[in-house]
Amino acid sequence: MALVTTTEMFRKAYEGHYAVGAFNINNMEIIQAITEACAEAKSPAILQVSAGARKYAKPAYLMALAHAAVEDTGLDFALHLDHGADYEICKACIDNGFTSVMIDGSKHSFEDNIALTRKVVEYAHAHGVVVEGELGKLAGIEDDVKVKAEDSSYTRPEEVEEFVTRTGVDSLAIAIGTSHGAYKFKPGQKPQLRFDILKEVEKRLPGFPIVLHGASSVIPELVDEINARGGKMPDAIGIPESMLREAATMAVCKINIDSDIRLAMTAGVRRVLTETPAAFDPREYLKVGREEVKKMVTHKIYEVLGSNGKA
Ligand code: G3H
Ligand code: 13P
Ligand code: ZN
Repeated sequence: MALVTTTEMFRKAYEGHYAVGAFNINNMEIIQAITEACAEAKSPAILQVSAGARKYAKPAYLMALAHAAVEDTGLDFALHLDHGADYEICKACIDNGFTSVMIDGSKHSFEDNIALTRKVVEYAHAHGVVVEGELGKLAGIEDDVKVKAEDSSYTRPEEVEEFVTRTGVDSLAIAIGTSHGAYKFKPGQKPQLRFDILKEVEKRLPGFPIVLHGASSVIPELVDEINARGGKMPDAIGIPESMLREAATMAVCKINIDSDIRLAMTAGVRRVLTETPAAFDPREYLKVGREEVKKMVTHKIYEVLGSNGKA
């Protein structure tokens, strides 16, 4: 068992009409929660690391924890760079042993996005690493960058074939109405995804794996629990799980989840700290946070991704 690329995972997911969860990792408890849930459900998963996670936990720790998860569970996982902003961070992760990187050129012009993505693909493929590119711009918060809803833009299906052919990417993230963070839709707004764009992309790129970022559902029970225990989160609305389930049966092979992990961990920690105010052993509350993340990931595997039994 090892850290592997996403090639086989995506081939099986596409043919089997399910998706693989890409879960953001930031510390030991989160990695344990995700990978233990996968081991029990016999599910594949992608462990993804943002620039912020590298800064918080340091690359050496995250790498060692990813290897530990493989050893502990006996499963293969992909280790993926989330939202690589430039060639340098992609190269550093490839040199460090990541099996997959995302180069996020979505803020650049079409031509500049192609040139940057192509450069990363050349280096990655020469080192046996796969690459995710992005076309279209999601709203929301990633790292320290906040993209306003009015500055976001849907993917233009008529551009995807040229982008994939000229860059050589192995998967493509598209913008169909999902967004990053816990506040995806305003209160009263009806969540909607542009399935027409997804269908058109699928038609133009048959068999090609598509990625959905910003795909947390912002599980209402977790938000309620946080607010019932002293939290002050404003009304948060995410992507309905039924829509994600539908996307998973289509060309979407990778579904990115970070905000729901944050909510689950926070709900668990808050519960201990409010119910047991005398608690001061970090293991006491982190253990419960970890259990909540594991429960949430298990729910996603069975009810959203359909990846149970596919490892
Ligand atoms: O897309 C962004 C991910 O949720 C990572 O967030 O940059 O705060 O680690 P982060
Ligand atoms: P969420 O904020 O919806 O969890 O999205 C995470 C993501 O897309 C990471 O790249
Ligand atoms: Zn993302």
